[in-house]
Amino acid sequence: MRIDIITALPKILQGPFDQSILKIANDKGLVEVHIHDLREYANNKHNSIDDYAYGGGAGMVLTIEPIDLCISKLKSERDYDEVIYMTPDGEKLNQNISNGLSLVENIIILCGHYKGVDERVREQFITREISIGDYVLSGGELAAAVLADSIIRLIPGVLNDETSALTDSFQDNLLAPPVYSRPAKYKGWKVPDVLLSGHEKNIETWRFEKSLERTRLRRPDLLDGNDAEK
Ligand code: ADE
Repeated sequence: MRIDIITALPKILQGPFDQSILKIANDKGLVEVHIHDLREYANNKHNSIDDYAYGGGAGMVLTIEPIDLCISKLKSERDYDEVIYMTPDGEKLNQNISNGLSLVENIIILCGHYKGVDERVREQFITREISIGDYVLSGGELAAAVLADSIIRLIPGVLNDETSALTDSFQDNLLAPPVYSRPAKYKGWKVPDVLLSGHEKNIETWRFEKSLERTRLRRPDLLDGNDAEK
């Protein structure tokens, strides 16, 4: 899989992709992440990539030309399944969206900034708009890192134990059950006996019940229409 991220602030994105499973995925050759600095596509003497909004109002708008040049260059090199714009008014990210995107070949993610992008970019180039939640960040970079992380960890081979992504919270519209590790008793606080029993069936049942209990308590909305409740 290949992910191309277009941004006005490339430095913000270097950290997340140099660390942890994102780096492992890259080192294993399972994903290629390319970060493109929008300023390199500024075709004017001041290297500018933003301008005032027509009609007035506070805030700068990312202009269409550098974005067009960057997206068009990428598209001339390969086909893309989606060109995604990170924006608070997009569809809200959930596990289902990440699952679907982990199956595609190539995606472009455009990070918004300032007051946003010229609307014609959204009309002409963007195939999908995604928000990571009902709050406004100062730019789309952190949102793009969140989206890319949630996709990349699902690519087979990225996580050591492939089943661990399947048992994540939200995969069955259920929150994950609690987990424990050594020691079995710490300052008198004990790990539930069933987890020490070695009885696989009982452990599975316990985990499912805990998932259900936790979901009912914390996120009852997830259970609407969920088979586990029936
Ligand atoms: N850019 C600014 N805020 C955002 C959000 N909540 N989701 C995605 N992109 C954003």
